[in-house]
Amino acid sequence: MNKSQEWSLQSIQAEINVLKHKPGALLPILHALQDRFGFIPPDAVPLIADSLNQTRAEVHGVISFYHHFRTAPPGRHVVQICRAEACQAVGARQLEAHAKTRLGIDYHQTTSDHDITLEAVYCLGNCACGPSVRVDNNVRGRVTIDAFDALMDELQTRPLEVMG
Ligand code: FES
Repeated sequence: MNKSQEWSLQSIQAEINVLKHKPGALLPILHALQDRFGFIPPDAVPLIADSLNQTRAEVHGVISFYHHFRTAPPGRHVVQICRAEACQAVGARQLEAHAKTRLGIDYHQTTSDHDITLEAVYCLGNCACGPSVRVDNNVRGRVTIDAFDALMDELQTRPLEVMG
């Protein structure tokens, strides 16, 4: 489960202020914002640009260059599939095709129930046990299509409401 905090202009500015005087502050600021809020709120862009004396277009350019950065809040769970070579050699391509069909979304999208955001990642340090998938902060190895489905069933199961 993601533990992102609600953002506010004040909390964004506070994160910027901690890092803005360091050389090459833009990337550390973007990482800090995403770590804290789960994404880069669009309202952060003018604040960052003003604080670093850069244009908004420059800040946008960096955010869109790095796929790591999200510009919308993630779902309750973030599922990342490894696309690096060792995992691809043991079935990661079939797994990612299955994942997109099963969830009905592409990479960088979130299911309509807001349960799951699907992302690509390039090596999770679990190369000997591919295909590897990270669910929130947990890396899973040897994820077959059946294992993936079981995992998604688990993530998408909600407790039934008991009627009084
Ligand atoms: S290649 Fe997938 S974990 Fe390293």
